[in-house]
Parts: sequence; C-alpha cells; structure tokens
Amino acid sequence: MSDHYKPFEPLVKRIKEDGKCLDGGILKVDSFINHQIDPTLLQAMSIEFVRRFATKEINKIITIEASGIAPAIMVGFLLNVPVVFVKKKKPSTMTGMYSTEVFSFTKNRSYTVCCSQEFLNEGDKVLFIDDFLANGNAAKGIIELVKQAKAELVGMGFIVEKSFQLGGSYLRNEGYQVESLAIIDSLDNCQIKFKEN
Ligand code: G4P
Repeated sequence: MSDHYKPFEPLVKRIKEDGKCLDGGILKVDSFINHQIDPTLLQAMSIEFVRRFATKEINKIITIEASGIAPAIMVGFLLNVPVVFVKKKKPSTMTGMYSTEVFSFTKNRSYTVCCSQEFLNEGDKVLFIDDFLANGNAAKGIIELVKQAKAELVGMGFIVEKSFQLGGSYLRNEGYQVESLAIIDSLDNCQIKFKEN
C-alpha cells in the first residue's frame, strides 16, 4: 500500500452519496463514472492525477476500453499529450500490433487486448489511467504491451481501488507508482468501508 495515500475527498463523498454495493464485492458507480459521467467530478479527479504524477515525465496516456477512456482523455487533455486506448477486439484493419491475454475475474474469461505498433513506441513514457483496480489483470496486460513496445510505464492512476483484491499490492511491490483516488477496504455486508489516510 502507498505510504502517501490520501483519499480524494470529493470522490469519497460522491461514492458515499451515490455508490451502491452489489454482491461479489462490486461497487456500482454508474450514475457518475461507468454509465452516466459527471464531467465536473471527472475534471477534478484528472487535475488530482496530474498533481500526483507531477514529478514524472509523461508523453502519452494509455488506457483500456471502455470505461478508462473518459478519465484518460481528461488527463491527456490537461497534460496536452495523446491518449491511446488499448482495444479488446482486434480491428480487421489493424496489422502490426502488440497483443496479450487479460483474464477478467468479473467476467470469468480471458480476452486478447491489442494496440497498434504505430501508437506505442520505443522510449515512450506512458501513464496508465483506468477506472477500477481490482485484481490488476488489466494493468498486467498494459505492463506487457508497454514492454513489447520497449516503452516505459511511469505510473498508474485509478479512480477506485479495491484493496481486498490484490492488484494494488502486487503492482506496488513491483515498484510502480500507483495512485488511487479512493481505496475501498471492504464491501462486506454491503457496507462501503474506505481506507483512511
Ligand atoms: P482487474 O483488471 O483489476 O483484474 O479487474 P477485473 O478483471 O476484476 O475486472 C474486470 C472489469 O470489471 C473491468 O472493467 C474493471 O474495471 C471492472 N471492475 C472491477 N471491479 C469493479 C467494481 O467493483 N465496480 C465496477 N463498476 N467495475 C469493476 P471492464 O470489464 O474492462 O469493463 P469496461 O471498462 O469495458 O466497463
């Protein structure tokens, strides 16, 4: 766990107001993140990501479709760098590409993610932005694609991390700067328990 974790209070407040627990340790936030999007909160969260990664040199944002795209675009806009979203289905027009398998626990199946070699280049300094960090499988897929491209992953920013799943501790142990705006320690008994400072 990050030594410097500080919850982003506007997000915590909003989750308390509008977040819902579903069975199986799922937090439903589709009224402001996953279906309907609150652009004002999205902007504030993106400014916070930029602040947390201010010491890093970044020339590209990477995410995975679909829900990561909105926050990634906002961060890319603020940093004035391009945003690449990794695809979950190989487009028929795509030739040279990096690809790897990602296992989804929520869907209980693997899928291939891919990225054109045109848009991920050797020497790129890439920041990964996504909505949820659970088991970290999407992040592991990104790590692999960035490695294939001989680019550098300078950090990872997540809107919500669920610390009762092991993605966050795995990624931090691997040495990555992982910044989560809200960390949820438990969703047991449909109670949302936030990690404190
Ligand atoms: P992981 O990448 O951290 O291992 O996540 P996992 O396989 O467990 O999750 C797969 C999908 O479910 C991801 O989206 C992830 O963002 C989402 N997810 C995981 N936990 C939660 C949760 O508690 N609440 C919500 N709302 N989503 C969660 P995806 O399938 O790639 O979907 P999308 O980005 O296309 O929407």
